[in-house]
Amino acid sequence: MQIPNDLRFRTREAYSEAYKKSMENPEEFWGAVAEKFKWHKKWDRVLEWDFEKPEVKWFQGGKLNITENCLDRHLEQHGEKTAIIWEPNNPKDQTLHISYKELHQRVTQFANVLKQNGIEKGDRVCIYMPMIPELAVAMLACARIGAIHAIVFAGFSVKAIAKRINNAGCKMLITANGNYRGKKYIDLKGICDEALKETPSIKTVIVYKHGDKDFQMKEGRDKFWRDEVNKAKTECAAQIMDAEDPLFILHTSGSTGTPKGMVHTIGGYMIGTTYTFQNVFQPDPNDVYWCTADIGWITGHSYIIYGPLSAGATTLMFEGIPSYPDYGRFWEIVEKNKITHFYTAPTAIRSLATQSLDYVKAHDLSSLKVLGSVGEPINEEAWHWYNENIGKKNCPIVDTWWQTETGAIMISTMAGINQPKPRFATLPLPGVQPVLMDDNGKEIKYTGKKVRGRLAIKFPWPSMARTIWDNHERYKKVYFTEFKGKYSSGDGAYIDEEGDYRITGRVDDVIIVSGHNLETAPVENAINEHPKVSESAIVGFPHKIKGKALYAYVILYSKEDASEELKKEIKELVSKLQGPIAKPDKIQFVTDLPKTRSAKIMRRILRKIAAGETQDFGDTSTLVNPEVVKEIADHAL
Ligand code: WT7
Repeated sequence: MQIPNDLRFRTREAYSEAYKKSMENPEEFWGAVAEKFKWHKKWDRVLEWDFEKPEVKWFQGGKLNITENCLDRHLEQHGEKTAIIWEPNNPKDQTLHISYKELHQRVTQFANVLKQNGIEKGDRVCIYMPMIPELAVAMLACARIGAIHAIVFAGFSVKAIAKRINNAGCKMLITANGNYRGKKYIDLKGICDEALKETPSIKTVIVYKHGDKDFQMKEGRDKFWRDEVNKAKTECAAQIMDAEDPLFILHTSGSTGTPKGMVHTIGGYMIGTTYTFQNVFQPDPNDVYWCTADIGWITGHSYIIYGPLSAGATTLMFEGIPSYPDYGRFWEIVEKNKITHFYTAPTAIRSLATQSLDYVKAHDLSSLKVLGSVGEPINEEAWHWYNENIGKKNCPIVDTWWQTETGAIMISTMAGINQPKPRFATLPLPGVQPVLMDDNGKEIKYTGKKVRGRLAIKFPWPSMARTIWDNHERYKKVYFTEFKGKYSSGDGAYIDEEGDYRITGRVDDVIIVSGHNLETAPVENAINEHPKVSESAIVGFPHKIKGKALYAYVILYSKEDASEELKKEIKELVSKLQGPIAKPDKIQFVTDLPKTRSAKIMRRILRKIAAGETQDFGDTSTLVNPEVVKEIADHAL
């Protein structure tokens, strides 16, 4: 079997050559990549850009439909190949194998459901669903007819959904009655009914009945998925779209302020996700790939659905959680489906690393070839645990740095191409021109010596977000004003003597201690170096003498280790690695940290607690674990 659009470079030399070409002549480089896709009309110009405005257009004048690239073009030769494997929450329920042919048929039929309910090209559709195949069907059906999907993670609250629906002006909501997460059942429809009281733009709600729990339907507004599908014909020609038409809006919560509705457009996003999927993971045609993310965030959009399907791969969707029925669930799924590529987040790795190794040893993981990491810098401890126990020192770990805004992987280890290095994302993908900036906004020249600065990107890449929905000014302000003519990532980074990039984390988390600017990330990294520490978060709190002093929230691998002695050891370690100025004044041991779905710590809450406030934490609707806030506040120092 052949990959329908094989875009892979297979050696370090071929990577270097591709990289060089992408720098010397980006238009020619990306034009050649784009040739491998199905277009109805070829583009007039590969790229037009102006980072001052900012305005970026890729493949202007090109006409296409992304679902023809993700589905139709595979049918002739690979129609029977499994597109999606679905693993249900309950391991006793049946695993599903959905072929490209079947997925195509379900998508086109559901596209007709959208049409028969008045959805047209350009309309926004909110999708709030569990990790079930219907979620994939719904998003692809939107893309089929040119509607713009705005997916909201099914762990979000009433307020969070309403905010996103109103921001995007969605006409329709697609949901399910409930979501099974381990032993928990979440009444999605009930949450939607509350949210819908505040969302006047929604005319129709399509409800997929998942399981047998009761729920309410509202006459005239709510319709059953199955009834609608039964009425719909199966054929639906793809709406021919412009390369620069929006494909979706995805809100990134960040840790402060209102969510930003990042807008991704069709042509560039398709090319960026497909190209990076193939070159970072280097999958072979018969491989089985699993990304454990939820489709409600960008990793799921790009690397469960669009990238893998466009590359004709088999992609696994998992409904449940890593701890149900026990902490061996991930490894059971790997064994059962002979997973070759496993892509997860450091936070998941750390939480699994705190469990008994027997959960791992009980399963045959010999099918694995490549491991991936995304979401935050992976600390050394977790990296080694992953490498030794899951990869058996036999699978490269690809540490992939990117953002909701970048749409696709930007700086990353590439399987079999370059050497993995703990904590390092290593090299830019072809087409990506990273640069480090100093505090005065000047470019830092890399001359082979280790340098450190703020990570910016100086040239457009196809999958970058084009704007913030309905707020282009904010887009400009957040990403294009810090460094003139450059995209500012908000992350800090090093380049080491070997030319490898290490991303250290957000630079906006800065605390001024006794007049010194301290970034939280390096201090946290130092704390995490302690073998008993699983994770930590640093914030500043008012201090009479220093102005601000550091307050550390620390999660231990094992709670029993908590002691005054250990606090001392941690302080000494920080002092040794980062200097005495970085030594935390207070250390509180906690069981968890308040996090958004994309694993961003909500520091404003930790700051309040450190400052002695124990209530009024504002909007916590985007937290995945709001219950932890009270626990931390109750034990504040
Ligand atoms: C931020 C983006 C798109 C990925 C999922 C998160 C951090 C992400 C890494 C990595 C170091 C990383 C950065 C980035 N980040 N991956 N491999 N190494 N840091 O998407 O919510 O948009 O967050 O996650 O700080 O800016 P996101």
